[in-house]
Amino acid sequence: MMKTPIYDFLTEYKNKNTARFHMPGHKGRGPDELRSISPFDITEITGADFLFNTSNEGIISESENNASKLFDSALTAYSTEGSTLAIKTMLFLAVKGKRRKILAARNVHKAFINACALIDIDVDWLFPKKSLNSICTIELSASDLENALSGYNKCDLPSAVYITTPDYLGNMLDVKSISDVCKRYDIPLLVDNAHGAYLNFLSNNIHPLNLGADMCCDSAHKTLPCLTGGAYLHISKNTKEEFKSKTNVKEAMQIFATTSPSYLILESLDLCNRILSDKEFINKLDKTCKRVKKLKAEIKSIGFDVIDNPDTEPLKLVLLTNKINGKELLYLLEKHNIYCEYADISAVVLMISPENNENDFISLLSALKEIKKLSANITACSCKSDEDVFILPTQRKMSIRDALFSKAETIPIEKALGRICSSPVSICPPCIPLVISGEVFDLSTINLLKRYSIFYVNVVQ
Ligand SMILES: Cc1ncc(COP(=O)(O)O)c(C=O)c1O
Repeated sequence: MMKTPIYDFLTEYKNKNTARFHMPGHKGRGPDELRSISPFDITEITGADFLFNTSNEGIISESENNASKLFDSALTAYSTEGSTLAIKTMLFLAVKGKRRKILAARNVHKAFINACALIDIDVDWLFPKKSLNSICTIELSASDLENALSGYNKCDLPSAVYITTPDYLGNMLDVKSISDVCKRYDIPLLVDNAHGAYLNFLSNNIHPLNLGADMCCDSAHKTLPCLTGGAYLHISKNTKEEFKSKTNVKEAMQIFATTSPSYLILESLDLCNRILSDKEFINKLDKTCKRVKKLKAEIKSIGFDVIDNPDTEPLKLVLLTNKINGKELLYLLEKHNIYCEYADISAVVLMISPENNENDFISLLSALKEIKKLSANITACSCKSDEDVFILPTQRKMSIRDALFSKAETIPIEKALGRICSSPVSICPPCIPLVISGEVFDLSTINLLKRYSIFYVNVVQ
């Protein structure tokens, strides 16, 4: 069984009943509501290691090495600030000492935009070619990437390619073929795998690291039994030596990170290693994937449409709504005590993990049956439209950084035509910016924003 050095240290420390003259202020005691967890919540006292330690000694290092073994990486660094911190770190590593230019597929999470503003990275975008009726998804093949890269002069090539897969709806890109193209151009492939930590533990390992990514971030907390905020930055065994240097990775991460990482989150990442190394978890994961497949068939037989194709990750359940607006369906499900991850006009997203049990699935099915009966009386969806939902290329007048740092004002969307976007405009979730700092508002973006009920925007003064 895999060792859990952080958990062991914290348990021993808790049981020692010490006088705590260190942070945090609760001293492992009150308030009463926190007493069950506060004894484990400590700071970097003697023996507790520190997150940005560049040596290979200490309980955090040992635990990270355990995670690295599980993911078969050259190096895995913990983040207690989600993939958001891991994204900043991998972008910094990718451009350090090089051109600060990245080629990215446009369905990025806003953490990417913020990182580009902070690091002053210039982005060339790969836009969707056609509407997939969601801002979350992009179709990007290896030949699309090849076309894009072949258009650069050698000296202008970007320092990295950045993709998001799986996306918020569970669609996955062909990382293997995309990484082959990147390798031909000697450009590292960075993957936002926030939604796919568990892919490493499927019988067919489709984790991006296993398919050729150079670096990727995983939000452990999204799909693994880990506390919110727990995430990994993985560095591939097959990437450049400079990325594999623990000193470089830790130095980069500490630029953006808090100096008070949560030991509760570190402990949960540590305990997660033990769970993930256990055959029982692998079996449970396999069973859950099979159950979700069956669940999809059951949901279809009730009369709901679900995304069900081989390019989607097995643990996302996306209900495609037709008669009912997705947000209405979300509301109706909540009335049945079913809480989902996200909804927009045409889809409701449910995230499933091996911690969901049969009762959860039965409750979902019975709620959907009831809602179906009710929706027989609904004649038309109240705000579904036939317009395309996708982000089109727009004119860029300033860099992301300059636009975000400029003096700005908030104006109604009707007055935004021709103005330059200051703060990226998104709805959260899925936090995918519809307009990005430095871009000019045109008619199609204004219509898209209205569709998402965004009526005010920040523009450069
Ligand atoms: C695709 C994607 N990337 C990155 C993030 C940020 O992850 P975290 O919340 O772990 O910082 C999210 C969060 O929802 C996401 O959906």
